[in-house]
Amino acid sequence: MTAFDPTDADVRRDPYPSYHWLLRHDPVHRGAHRVWYVSRFADVRAVLGDERFARTGIRRFWTDLVGPGLLAEIVGDIILFQDEPDHGRLRGVVGPAFSPSALRRLEPVIAGTVDDLLRPALARGAMDVVDELAYPLALRAVLGLLGLPAADWGAVGRWSRDVGRTLDRGASAEDMRRGHAAIAEFADYVERALARRRREGGEDLLALMLDAHDRGLMSRNEIVSTVVTFIFTGHETVASQVGNAVLSLLAHPDQLDLLRRRPDLLAQAVEECLRYDPSVQSNTRQLDVDVELRGRRLRRDDVVVVLAGAANRDPRRYDRPDDFDIERDPVPSMSFGAGMRYCLGSYLARTQLRAAVAALARLPGLRLGCASDALAYQPRTMFRGLASLPIAFTPGG
Ligand code: HEM
Repeated sequence: MTAFDPTDADVRRDPYPSYHWLLRHDPVHRGAHRVWYVSRFADVRAVLGDERFARTGIRRFWTDLVGPGLLAEIVGDIILFQDEPDHGRLRGVVGPAFSPSALRRLEPVIAGTVDDLLRPALARGAMDVVDELAYPLALRAVLGLLGLPAADWGAVGRWSRDVGRTLDRGASAEDMRRGHAAIAEFADYVERALARRRREGGEDLLALMLDAHDRGLMSRNEIVSTVVTFIFTGHETVASQVGNAVLSLLAHPDQLDLLRRRPDLLAQAVEECLRYDPSVQSNTRQLDVDVELRGRRLRRDDVVVVLAGAANRDPRRYDRPDDFDIERDPVPSMSFGAGMRYCLGSYLARTQLRAAVAALARLPGLRLGCASDALAYQPRTMFRGLASLPIAFTPGG
């Protein structure tokens, strides 16, 4: 291979052969646009735990890209783009809302949402998993976490998608125009929700952030930015992962059968889906100082991308890494990251994945509803998710 490029159409369709090449031949690789790609599990974990691989440069890159205005202000305050001490301060404020004990209240809501979303499709015996289940489920769950009305998911999803499109190297002038318009409406919506919470009180994440604001721990812009971030990161990731998980099971009918016979394997099956085909394929850092990694000299300001999708197939960590095996000894994967930025929403994501996979696996005669070569991935580099996933099953089941 010459220079690895995640925007290449073949890599987008199936990145795993390139990952194996990197893992074997060039684990710290200088790829397209002079970006470093790190693939081995141990190296990815080391980079994610090392503050010299920082985020502030990435924040500057995106704020410059979107141009001056509210969008840049909000993007500049995103927790994912902060280094210490701001990162720790924000994580300390919002962290308690993500604990299993705080989220348990959402479990029955999530199970009920899956049933509600599946119901209209049962008589038809067909549905698009991405559009009709994964996206609405993920959006409603994250609105529930924040304490915003589930009924707002349509508008919130539209703003979030429009803002998300601006955070892509391939964003067009039209994408930017829509993103700037969407953030104004989005921020206005959050301001109104905050005013309502201020009047009515509550015990959700909005209330928690208002309290932090009153104690001088969080600025108003940071609240708006955090709401936008959670909605964006919390739904694109889960929605794409639901699609990837269902496709992995459909592509391995023996494993789907096994899960039907042994529902006790559900949690393990979801972990294997996360390992086998993660929705977040990579995470980006920028170096604060020169660093040596596996004999390569990385320079200050170099951009370093760690490939979770590759780390999850590293034969040094996993036996038969390309086998999809839901009985595999559950060795944690890199799909939720590692170190101080380990995903805050992992429990919420797992709850949704388990509910969606369990409900779909129960459908009699479940199968792919189109030819497998008709499936297409969304044009993204960091995220991996299907544009649509038609399924078919026995109607009335
Ligand atoms: C399957 C679904 C998900 C996947 C694969 C995923 C993956 C990740 C990864 C890899 C990171 C680390 C980013 C980095 O190191 O740069 C991360 C961080 C984060 N995730 Fe998730 N995520 C998922 C769902 C969610 C959900 C549901 C939420 C919440 C609403 C969420 C909120 C966050 C936040 C706030 C961070 C930043 C943490 C920090 O900077 O300290 N994620 N996620």
